[in-house]
Amino acid sequence: MPTTQSSESVEKLKADATRALRAADSAEQLEAWRVEYLGRKGRLTSVLRALGSLEIKERKAVGAAANRLRTELESLFDERLLQAKSNTAPAGSIDITLPGRKSGSGGLHPSTQMIREITQAFNEMGFQTIEGPEIELERYNFDLLNIPADHPARDQWDTIWVDSDSRSDVLLRTHTSPMQARVMENTDPPIRVVVPGKCYRYESTDATHEWHFNQVEGLAVDEGITFADLKGTLYEFARRIFGPSRKVRFRCDYFPFVEPGVEMSVDWNGEWIEILGAGMVHPKVLKNVGYDSDKYTGFAFGMGPERISMLQNDISDIRHFFRNDLRFLTQF
Ligand code: PHE
Repeated sequence: MPTTQSSESVEKLKADATRALRAADSAEQLEAWRVEYLGRKGRLTSVLRALGSLEIKERKAVGAAANRLRTELESLFDERLLQAKSNTAPAGSIDITLPGRKSGSGGLHPSTQMIREITQAFNEMGFQTIEGPEIELERYNFDLLNIPADHPARDQWDTIWVDSDSRSDVLLRTHTSPMQARVMENTDPPIRVVVPGKCYRYESTDATHEWHFNQVEGLAVDEGITFADLKGTLYEFARRIFGPSRKVRFRCDYFPFVEPGVEMSVDWNGEWIEILGAGMVHPKVLKNVGYDSDKYTGFAFGMGPERISMLQNDISDIRHFFRNDLRFLTQF
């Protein structure tokens, strides 16, 4: 019976078409669906074309049903097509089909890297790493280190004083040497420590001067320590940091808290470059912290890790270290 058959086939067509449409989710699959059902030779079109062979009543009924289905399918199709388009990843979203890429990982600041290299070299020689306060008292930064208020050497350490209503002896440490006094005050010999940390000076800046920078202080105190120990330790340090064939040179220098005082330079392409100050701990300093200066002797040294890093990495301006420019920082 053609009547029943035709109306059934519109029903079946609808069921097939909607199921297939739900399953299609890419633009290509949707286009294939459109061709199969709505295309010129598609299944719905065939039904409409076959209308002519039907009885007039049937023709009306099936024609109306088929046309309703066409409108329905067309709008369903448009809807699915929009969905499929929004499913394709928009710019900037994650495409999980791409091969994996390593994400950028952070690194240690070049000053920190240098500080660690330096302290490790001394750690391996038996020195312990400790830290101290950046906001210091005049007493530790100057007085106990044999630099009284009227001492001209204070000019060497242009000081940033901390404003305070209650006291006038608070400052930002100008070097890490105050930790010499703090350690000795709290500990009996033998002492072997290195002290890395930030220092501050009231200075205008240029390529070789910053108003803040790091230092690494060193201190060894025991019975029978001599200048030969100072030289041997610092020689060994230079070899560990700059390589076994590096030449070093000691020359006299003056620091109020050591006697004798020296500076150590390393040979850099035929030029002597000063990298640290050092000396035997001044007996007055030993007495200031309550040590028996007849029984104990020691040596101390201080160096600037940024300066050493500049030398090693051929950096021409110390201010790069504190500008936070990633083009500089990521080179390390
Ligand atoms: N504190 C001195 C400076 O800042 C360096 C130094 C440390 C010199 C220890 C001798 C001994 O210049």
